[in-house]
Amino acid sequence: MITTTSPLKPPLRRARRLRRTQALRGLVRETSLDPRSFVYPVFAAEGVQGSRPIPSMPGQAQHAVAELKRVAAEVAGLGVPGILVFGVPEAKDAVGTGGWARDGIAQRAIRALKDAQGEALTVVADLCLCEYTDHGHCGLLTATGEVDNDRTLEAYQRVAVSQAEAGADVIAPSGMMDGQVAAIRAALDESGFSGIPILAYAAKYASGFYGPFREAAGSTPQFGDRRAYQMDPANRREAMVELDRDLEEGADLLMVKPALAYLDVLADARARHQVPLGAYNVSAEYAMVKAAAERGWIDERRIVLEILTSIRRAGADFVITYHALEAARWLSEG
Ligand code: PBG
Repeated sequence: MITTTSPLKPPLRRARRLRRTQALRGLVRETSLDPRSFVYPVFAAEGVQGSRPIPSMPGQAQHAVAELKRVAAEVAGLGVPGILVFGVPEAKDAVGTGGWARDGIAQRAIRALKDAQGEALTVVADLCLCEYTDHGHCGLLTATGEVDNDRTLEAYQRVAVSQAEAGADVIAPSGMMDGQVAAIRAALDESGFSGIPILAYAAKYASGFYGPFREAAGSTPQFGDRRAYQMDPANRREAMVELDRDLEEGADLLMVKPALAYLDVLADARARHQVPLGAYNVSAEYAMVKAAAERGWIDERRIVLEILTSIRRAGADFVITYHALEAARWLSEG
Protein backbone atom coordinates (compact mmCIF):
# COMPACT_ATOMS: atom_id res chain seq x y z
CA MET A 1 0.00 0.00 0.00
CA ILE A 2 1.26 3.49 -0.87
CA THR A 3 1.48 5.55 2.25
CA THR A 4 3.05 8.75 0.95
CA THR A 5 0.82 11.77 0.78
CA SER A 6 3.04 13.94 -1.42
CA PRO A 7 1.39 14.52 -4.85
CA LEU A 8 3.01 12.78 -7.83
CA LYS A 9 5.19 15.20 -9.81
CA PRO A 10 4.58 14.72 -13.53
CA PRO A 11 7.75 13.81 -15.51
CA LEU A 12 9.37 16.77 -17.28
CA ARG A 13 10.90 14.61 -19.96
CA ARG A 14 8.46 12.38 -21.80
CA ALA A 15 10.04 10.15 -24.44
CA ARG A 16 6.57 9.15 -25.56
CA ARG A 17 5.92 12.62 -27.00
CA LEU A 18 8.02 11.72 -30.03
CA ARG A 19 6.46 8.30 -30.44
CA ARG A 20 2.87 9.46 -30.70
CA THR A 21 2.28 9.30 -34.45
CA GLN A 22 3.79 7.44 -37.34
CA ALA A 23 4.91 10.69 -38.96
CA LEU A 24 6.66 11.86 -35.79
CA ARG A 25 8.39 8.53 -35.40
CA GLY A 26 9.55 8.81 -38.99
CA LEU A 27 10.88 12.28 -38.38
CA VAL A 28 13.14 11.18 -35.53
CA ARG A 29 14.13 7.80 -36.96
CA GLU A 30 17.91 7.37 -36.89
CA THR A 31 18.37 4.45 -39.26
CA SER A 32 16.97 3.98 -42.73
CA LEU A 33 16.42 0.75 -44.61
CA ASP A 34 16.52 0.90 -48.36
CA PRO A 35 17.09 -1.72 -51.09
CA ARG A 36 20.03 0.42 -52.22
CA SER A 37 22.05 -0.91 -49.32
CA PHE A 38 21.45 -4.59 -50.09
CA VAL A 39 23.70 -7.05 -51.89
CA TYR A 40 22.11 -10.34 -52.95
CA PRO A 41 24.21 -13.55 -52.88
CA VAL A 42 23.63 -16.09 -55.67
CA PHE A 43 24.90 -19.55 -56.53
CA ALA A 44 25.86 -20.25 -60.14
CA ALA A 45 25.93 -24.01 -60.55
CA GLU A 46 27.26 -26.31 -63.22
CA GLY A 47 25.12 -29.24 -64.27
CA VAL A 48 21.87 -27.66 -63.15
CA GLN A 49 18.91 -27.19 -65.48
CA GLY A 50 17.08 -24.02 -64.53
CA SER A 51 17.15 -23.86 -60.75
CA ARG A 52 17.71 -26.40 -58.00
CA PRO A 53 16.23 -25.31 -54.65
CA ILE A 54 18.47 -25.37 -51.59
CA PRO A 55 16.49 -27.28 -48.92
CA SER A 56 18.00 -25.56 -45.87
CA MET A 57 17.53 -22.10 -47.43
CA PRO A 58 13.87 -21.93 -48.49
CA GLY A 59 13.44 -19.48 -51.36
CA GLN A 60 17.10 -19.76 -52.46
CA ALA A 61 18.45 -21.98 -55.23
CA GLN A 62 21.44 -22.96 -57.28
CA HIS A 63 21.00 -21.51 -60.75
CA ALA A 64 22.16 -22.36 -64.24
CA VAL A 65 23.84 -19.38 -65.88
CA ALA A 66 20.85 -18.67 -68.15
CA GLU A 67 18.51 -18.67 -65.16
CA LEU A 68 20.86 -16.40 -63.27
CA LYS A 69 20.35 -13.73 -65.90
CA ARG A 70 16.65 -13.78 -65.11
CA VAL A 71 17.39 -13.49 -61.38
CA ALA A 72 19.75 -10.58 -62.07
CA ALA A 73 17.05 -8.71 -63.95
CA GLU A 74 14.75 -9.17 -60.96
CA VAL A 75 17.47 -7.96 -58.57
CA ALA A 76 18.13 -4.82 -60.60
CA GLY A 77 14.41 -4.25 -61.13
CA LEU A 78 13.84 -4.19 -57.38
CA GLY A 79 16.48 -1.50 -56.92
CA VAL A 80 19.05 -3.80 -55.31
CA PRO A 81 22.39 -2.55 -56.67
CA GLY A 82 24.67 -5.53 -56.09
CA ILE A 83 24.91 -9.27 -56.53
CA LEU A 84 27.53 -11.52 -54.90
CA VAL A 85 28.44 -14.49 -57.08
CA PHE A 86 29.47 -17.94 -55.83
CA GLY A 87 30.38 -20.73 -58.24
CA VAL A 88 29.39 -24.36 -57.68
CA PRO A 89 31.50 -26.48 -60.06
CA GLU A 90 30.90 -30.10 -61.07
CA ALA A 91 34.53 -31.16 -60.88
CA LYS A 92 36.91 -30.47 -57.99
CA ASP A 93 40.59 -31.18 -57.44
CA ALA A 94 43.24 -30.81 -54.74
CA VAL A 95 44.24 -27.26 -55.71
CA GLY A 96 40.90 -25.86 -56.87
CA THR A 97 41.83 -25.34 -60.53
CA GLY A 98 38.20 -24.62 -61.39
CA GLY A 99 38.43 -21.45 -59.35
CA TRP A 100 40.56 -19.67 -61.93
CA ALA A 101 39.53 -21.41 -65.17
CA ARG A 102 38.68 -18.91 -67.89
CA ASP A 103 35.45 -20.78 -68.54
CA GLY A 104 34.91 -21.73 -64.87
CA ILE A 105 31.36 -21.54 -63.59
CA ALA A 106 31.89 -18.31 -61.67
CA GLN A 107 33.67 -16.67 -64.61
CA ARG A 108 30.87 -17.67 -66.99
CA ALA A 109 28.25 -16.38 -64.58
CA ILE A 110 30.06 -13.07 -64.06
CA ARG A 111 30.42 -12.58 -67.82
CA ALA A 112 26.76 -13.36 -68.43
CA LEU A 113 25.60 -11.01 -65.68
CA LYS A 114 27.73 -8.15 -66.96
CA ASP A 115 26.58 -8.79 -70.54
CA ALA A 116 22.96 -8.73 -69.46
CA GLN A 117 22.99 -5.90 -66.93
CA GLY A 118 26.00 -3.71 -67.74
CA GLU A 119 26.40 -0.97 -65.16
CA ALA A 120 22.89 -1.44 -63.77
CA LEU A 121 24.21 -4.13 -61.44
CA THR A 122 27.45 -4.30 -59.46
CA VAL A 123 28.82 -7.81 -59.73
CA VAL A 124 30.87 -8.80 -56.70
CA ALA A 125 32.95 -11.97 -57.06
CA ASP A 126 33.47 -14.02 -53.91
CA LEU A 127 37.05 -15.21 -54.03
CA CYS A 128 37.73 -18.51 -52.29
CA LEU A 129 38.77 -22.04 -53.18
CA CYS A 130 36.55 -24.09 -50.84
CA GLU A 131 33.93 -24.67 -53.57
CA TYR A 132 36.65 -25.90 -55.95
CA THR A 133 38.89 -28.10 -53.79
CA ASP A 134 38.02 -31.78 -53.31
CA HIS A 135 38.97 -31.51 -49.62
CA GLY A 136 36.73 -28.46 -49.12
CA HIS A 137 39.32 -26.21 -47.48
CA CYS A 138 39.81 -22.61 -48.55
CA GLY A 139 43.33 -23.14 -49.88
CA LEU A 140 46.03 -25.58 -50.92
CA LEU A 141 47.22 -28.16 -48.41
CA THR A 142 50.70 -28.96 -47.11
CA ALA A 143 51.92 -32.57 -46.92
CA THR A 144 50.61 -32.73 -43.36
CA GLY A 145 47.14 -31.50 -44.28
CA GLU A 146 47.33 -27.91 -43.10
CA VAL A 147 46.25 -25.03 -45.31
CA ASP A 148 49.41 -23.60 -46.88
CA ASN A 149 48.97 -19.84 -46.56
CA ASP A 150 51.55 -18.57 -49.02
CA ARG A 151 50.96 -21.07 -51.82
CA THR A 152 47.28 -20.32 -51.49
CA LEU A 153 48.00 -16.61 -52.05
CA GLU A 154 49.42 -17.42 -55.49
CA ALA A 155 46.27 -19.32 -56.37
CA TYR A 156 44.12 -16.42 -55.10
CA GLN A 157 46.05 -14.07 -57.42
CA ARG A 158 45.09 -16.23 -60.38
CA VAL A 159 41.45 -16.37 -59.28
CA ALA A 160 41.29 -12.60 -58.83
CA VAL A 161 42.68 -11.86 -62.27
CA SER A 162 40.36 -14.40 -63.92
CA GLN A 163 37.35 -12.86 -62.17
CA ALA A 164 38.38 -9.34 -63.19
CA GLU A 165 38.88 -10.53 -66.77
CA ALA A 166 35.37 -11.96 -66.69
CA GLY A 167 34.12 -8.48 -65.79
CA ALA A 168 33.70 -8.52 -62.01
CA ASP A 169 33.22 -5.02 -60.59
CA VAL A 170 34.49 -5.91 -57.11
CA ILE A 171 36.68 -8.77 -55.85
CA ALA A 172 35.80 -10.12 -52.40
CA PRO A 173 38.36 -12.49 -50.88
CA SER A 174 36.77 -14.64 -48.16
CA GLY A 175 39.44 -17.25 -47.46
CA MET A 176 41.09 -15.57 -44.43
CA MET A 177 44.67 -16.21 -45.57
CA ASP A 178 47.21 -13.74 -44.18
CA GLY A 179 48.28 -11.23 -46.80
CA GLN A 180 45.46 -12.08 -49.21
CA VAL A 181 44.39 -8.49 -49.82
CA ALA A 182 47.94 -7.33 -50.62
CA ALA A 183 48.55 -10.32 -52.90
CA ILE A 184 45.32 -9.77 -54.80
CA ARG A 185 45.86 -6.00 -55.04
CA ALA A 186 49.31 -6.59 -56.57
CA ALA A 187 48.01 -9.15 -59.07
CA LEU A 188 45.11 -6.96 -60.15
CA ASP A 189 47.36 -3.92 -60.57
CA GLU A 190 49.90 -5.86 -62.61
CA SER A 191 47.18 -7.15 -64.91
CA GLY A 192 45.69 -3.76 -65.69
CA PHE A 193 42.91 -3.85 -63.10
CA SER A 194 44.07 -1.10 -60.78
CA GLY A 195 40.54 0.34 -60.88
CA ILE A 196 38.85 -2.76 -59.48
CA PRO A 197 38.14 -2.44 -55.75
CA ILE A 198 38.60 -5.14 -53.10
CA LEU A 199 35.90 -5.91 -50.55
CA ALA A 200 37.72 -7.65 -47.72
CA TYR A 201 35.95 -10.25 -45.62
CA ALA A 202 38.14 -8.68 -42.95
CA ALA A 203 36.63 -10.00 -39.72
CA LYS A 204 35.31 -13.41 -40.67
CA TYR A 205 34.64 -15.81 -37.85
CA ALA A 206 34.79 -19.63 -37.78
CA SER A 207 31.04 -19.89 -37.43
CA GLY A 208 28.33 -22.50 -37.17
CA PHE A 209 26.14 -20.02 -39.00
CA TYR A 210 27.65 -21.05 -42.37
CA GLY A 211 26.05 -24.51 -42.25
CA PRO A 212 23.32 -24.09 -44.89
CA PHE A 213 25.72 -22.24 -47.20
CA ARG A 214 28.05 -25.21 -47.24
CA GLU A 215 25.18 -27.38 -48.42
CA ALA A 216 24.34 -24.76 -51.05
CA ALA A 217 27.92 -24.40 -52.28
CA GLY A 218 29.09 -27.96 -51.69
CA SER A 219 32.01 -26.60 -49.68
CA THR A 220 32.00 -28.54 -46.41
CA PRO A 221 35.56 -29.42 -45.33
CA GLN A 222 36.12 -33.17 -45.77
CA PHE A 223 38.28 -33.25 -42.63
CA GLY A 224 38.80 -30.88 -39.74
CA ASP A 225 37.31 -27.40 -39.73
CA ARG A 226 38.28 -23.81 -40.55
CA ARG A 227 39.37 -22.71 -37.08
CA ALA A 228 43.02 -22.55 -38.10
CA TYR A 229 42.31 -19.69 -40.48
CA GLN A 230 38.94 -18.10 -39.63
CA MET A 231 38.59 -16.10 -36.41
CA ASP A 232 37.69 -17.39 -32.96
CA PRO A 233 34.10 -16.28 -32.11
CA ALA A 234 35.30 -15.28 -28.64
CA ASN A 235 37.57 -12.52 -29.94
CA ARG A 236 36.48 -8.92 -30.30
CA ARG A 237 39.71 -6.88 -30.19
CA GLU A 238 41.38 -9.17 -32.69
CA ALA A 239 38.78 -8.15 -35.27
CA MET A 240 40.15 -4.60 -35.14
CA VAL A 241 43.61 -5.91 -35.95
CA GLU A 242 42.20 -7.81 -38.94
CA LEU A 243 40.36 -4.72 -40.22
CA ASP A 244 43.41 -2.48 -39.80
CA ARG A 245 45.61 -4.96 -41.61
CA ASP A 246 43.27 -5.36 -44.57
CA LEU A 247 43.05 -1.60 -44.94
CA GLU A 248 46.85 -1.30 -44.83
CA GLU A 249 47.03 -3.99 -47.50
CA GLY A 250 44.78 -1.94 -49.76
CA ALA A 251 41.19 -3.03 -49.08
CA ASP A 252 38.61 -0.52 -50.34
CA LEU A 253 35.61 -1.88 -48.45
CA LEU A 254 35.48 -3.85 -45.21
CA MET A 255 33.10 -6.51 -43.98
CA VAL A 256 32.17 -8.26 -40.75
CA LYS A 257 30.75 -11.77 -40.98
CA PRO A 258 28.42 -13.21 -39.69
CA ALA A 259 26.24 -10.25 -38.75
CA LEU A 260 23.78 -10.95 -35.95
CA ALA A 261 25.96 -12.66 -33.38
CA TYR A 262 28.68 -10.07 -34.13
CA LEU A 263 26.90 -6.72 -33.99
CA ASP A 264 29.34 -5.58 -31.28
CA VAL A 265 32.22 -6.19 -33.67
CA LEU A 266 30.35 -4.33 -36.39
CA ALA A 267 29.76 -1.35 -34.10
CA ASP A 268 33.43 -1.31 -33.13
CA ALA A 269 34.43 -1.44 -36.79
CA ARG A 270 32.11 1.48 -37.57
CA ALA A 271 33.58 3.59 -34.78
CA ARG A 272 37.10 2.86 -35.93
CA HIS A 273 36.98 3.23 -39.71
CA GLN A 274 35.55 5.67 -42.22
CA VAL A 275 35.64 3.40 -45.29
CA PRO A 276 32.45 1.73 -46.51
CA LEU A 277 31.56 -1.11 -44.18
CA GLY A 278 29.37 -4.11 -44.83
CA ALA A 279 28.00 -7.04 -42.88
CA TYR A 280 27.09 -10.49 -44.17
CA ASN A 281 23.72 -11.72 -42.87
CA VAL A 282 24.72 -15.36 -43.43
CA SER A 283 22.94 -18.53 -44.39
CA ALA A 284 21.91 -19.87 -40.97
CA GLU A 285 20.67 -16.44 -39.90
CA TYR A 286 18.37 -16.69 -42.91
CA ALA A 287 17.50 -20.36 -42.35
CA MET A 288 16.47 -19.83 -38.73
CA VAL A 289 14.03 -17.09 -39.69
CA LYS A 290 12.58 -19.21 -42.50
CA ALA A 291 12.18 -22.26 -40.26
CA ALA A 292 10.39 -20.33 -37.53
CA ALA A 293 8.20 -18.56 -40.10
CA GLU A 294 7.23 -21.87 -41.71
CA ARG A 295 5.96 -23.04 -38.33
CA GLY A 296 3.96 -19.88 -37.88
CA TRP A 297 6.00 -18.94 -34.81
CA ILE A 298 7.04 -15.48 -35.94
CA ASP A 299 5.84 -12.58 -38.07
CA GLU A 300 8.40 -13.07 -40.83
CA ARG A 301 8.17 -9.71 -42.54
CA ARG A 302 8.41 -7.81 -39.31
CA ILE A 303 11.36 -9.84 -38.07
CA VAL A 304 13.32 -9.66 -41.32
CA LEU A 305 12.98 -5.88 -41.52
CA GLU A 306 13.92 -5.58 -37.84
CA ILE A 307 17.01 -7.74 -38.36
CA LEU A 308 18.14 -5.74 -41.38
CA THR A 309 17.52 -2.47 -39.54
CA SER A 310 19.58 -3.70 -36.58
CA ILE A 311 22.53 -4.53 -38.83
CA ARG A 312 22.36 -1.04 -40.34
CA ARG A 313 21.94 0.53 -36.90
CA ALA A 314 25.05 -1.28 -35.65
CA GLY A 315 26.99 0.45 -38.41
CA ALA A 316 26.77 -1.37 -41.72
CA ASP A 317 26.55 0.78 -44.84
CA PHE A 318 25.54 -2.25 -46.85
CA VAL A 319 24.13 -5.65 -45.94
CA ILE A 320 24.76 -8.84 -47.89
CA THR A 321 21.57 -10.80 -47.38
CA TYR A 322 19.49 -13.63 -48.82
CA HIS A 323 16.46 -11.60 -47.72
CA ALA A 324 17.34 -8.83 -50.22
CA LEU A 325 14.59 -9.48 -52.75
CA GLU A 326 11.71 -10.08 -50.38
CA ALA A 327 12.82 -7.17 -48.20
CA ALA A 328 13.01 -4.89 -51.24
CA ARG A 329 9.45 -5.92 -52.12
CA TRP A 330 8.19 -5.32 -48.60
CA LEU A 331 9.86 -1.91 -48.46
CA SER A 332 8.31 -0.84 -51.73
CA GLU A 333 4.87 -1.82 -50.39
CA GLY A 334 5.53 0.61 -47.54
C1 PBG B 1 33.66 -19.18 -48.59
C2 PBG B 1 32.47 -18.57 -47.98
C3 PBG B 1 31.62 -19.08 -46.99
C4 PBG B 1 30.58 -18.17 -46.85
C5 PBG B 1 30.84 -17.12 -47.73
N1 PBG B 1 32.02 -17.39 -48.39
C6 PBG B 1 31.67 -20.36 -46.24
C7 PBG B 1 32.74 -20.64 -45.28
O1 PBG B 1 33.61 -19.81 -44.99
O2 PBG B 1 32.76 -21.79 -44.83
C8 PBG B 1 29.40 -18.30 -45.93
C9 PBG B 1 28.19 -17.55 -46.33
C10 PBG B 1 26.93 -17.95 -45.67
O3 PBG B 1 26.87 -18.76 -44.72
O4 PBG B 1 25.88 -17.44 -46.11
N2 PBG B 1 34.79 -19.27 -47.83
